[in-house]
Amino acid sequence: MDEILINGGTPLNGEVTVSGAKNAALPVIAATLLVGDRFEFHNVPALKDILSIQDLLADMGADVEFHDNTFSIDTANLSHFEAPYEHVRKMRASILVLGPLLARMKRARVSLPGGCAIGARPIDQHLNGLARLGADIVLEHGYVEASAEKLTGAEIYFDLPTVTGTENLMMAAVLAEGQTVLRNVAREPEILALAEILNQMGADIAGAGSSVITINGVKALKPVTAAIIPDRIETGTFMVAAALTGGEIQIHKAAHSHLKELILKLEKTGAEIDCANQTIRVKGNAPVNSVDVKTMPYPGFPTDMQAQFMVLMAVAKGFSVISENVFENRFIHVSELRRLGADITISGSHAMVRGVPELSGAPVMATDLRASACLVLAGMVAKGTTRISRIYHLDRGYDALEKKFSRLGADIKRIPAQT
Ligand code: EPU
Repeated sequence: MDEILINGGTPLNGEVTVSGAKNAALPVIAATLLVGDRFEFHNVPALKDILSIQDLLADMGADVEFHDNTFSIDTANLSHFEAPYEHVRKMRASILVLGPLLARMKRARVSLPGGCAIGARPIDQHLNGLARLGADIVLEHGYVEASAEKLTGAEIYFDLPTVTGTENLMMAAVLAEGQTVLRNVAREPEILALAEILNQMGADIAGAGSSVITINGVKALKPVTAAIIPDRIETGTFMVAAALTGGEIQIHKAAHSHLKELILKLEKTGAEIDCANQTIRVKGNAPVNSVDVKTMPYPGFPTDMQAQFMVLMAVAKGFSVISENVFENRFIHVSELRRLGADITISGSHAMVRGVPELSGAPVMATDLRASACLVLAGMVAKGTTRISRIYHLDRGYDALEKKFSRLGADIKRIPAQT
């Protein structure tokens, strides 16, 4: 397996361009299952999760091509309506095929995702919602077997806001008969982006981006060509990198309106931030002030930025509390950060971070996607050499992150696996 080797201590300076958002591309690609025709998406990031959904849809019979960030797919001749365990265990977001398959093909068979490193992550809200639309759901042999002669609009109240749950229900309801009202839904920008593309396809969705979404079912949808929105978590990772290394980075193709809470917190740490059109400039200043954060569903502080922000607090002046409110086990990076000299204590869903003057390089292991990004950031500020193993987690969700950091001046390289 590839590893990443970093010699820390260099401030990052220069310009970088953000890739398209993984978590916006995945549902939009799944939505092509609603129509048997050819779609083209631009600005699709070249990363492992996109290759995973490409393989999944190809196995169902879709004709898929992906190069130069353009994803073309023809879903006319689907032969299997199934997401098998081998796919779902690699990528939980495979669950996103459930809603659209059920809506178009009247049936779907999707492996239950099970837990993952960051939490139990049940899908009860997806299944309850689909049942409310009239689907017959059976759980058998580790699979969700769903079928419905017809889906009928209904009022659905989510117990908690779920991102992929909201997306699945939106995709199922667009072809249902009558009106569906989804209440207490997630409000992430990726949900609005999906709704906009579904509306371009001919759907009738209102309210996406707020906590109530109303969908009037339509008879049929048509294919579209569309672009994927910028990745707010990749953007945030570069913003933290500038603040952390005391450098200055201009981040292009960035949507600052999606990052308001992170911007406020970074400014409190002492970073200077200017936003203009699609560019964010971040300048890091010493000392870094300690700031508390609590992760919350959007528009709160993103759980997907918690690990990266923790690195900044690990070298800040003072003491901060980082509370994780979205996933129950998203502190696995803490023990690796401690190996680099961080002073962090966990109590339940809170991490108490006492800033230290410097981190020191060491071999560490990536445990999930955002934890990997946090270790890369930590390695870039640590004194000496940090070697990160299991970086396949990083490759799942970042498009050439080490190359982008290298162009900003980091001493970072990928060591290919010995064959
Ligand atoms: N939940 C339930 N029941 C459900 C669904 C969710 O209890 O039926 C709980 C989860 O266990 C969790 C909370 O609700 O505690 C929120 O989970 P959510 O369903 O919103 O997460 P997700 O849709 O599985 C997406 C992103 C994640 C991101 C979360 C939260 C995609 C493909 N994934 O996951 O992204 O962390 O929303 O913002 O959009 C990542 O990119 O690294 C990543 C993990």
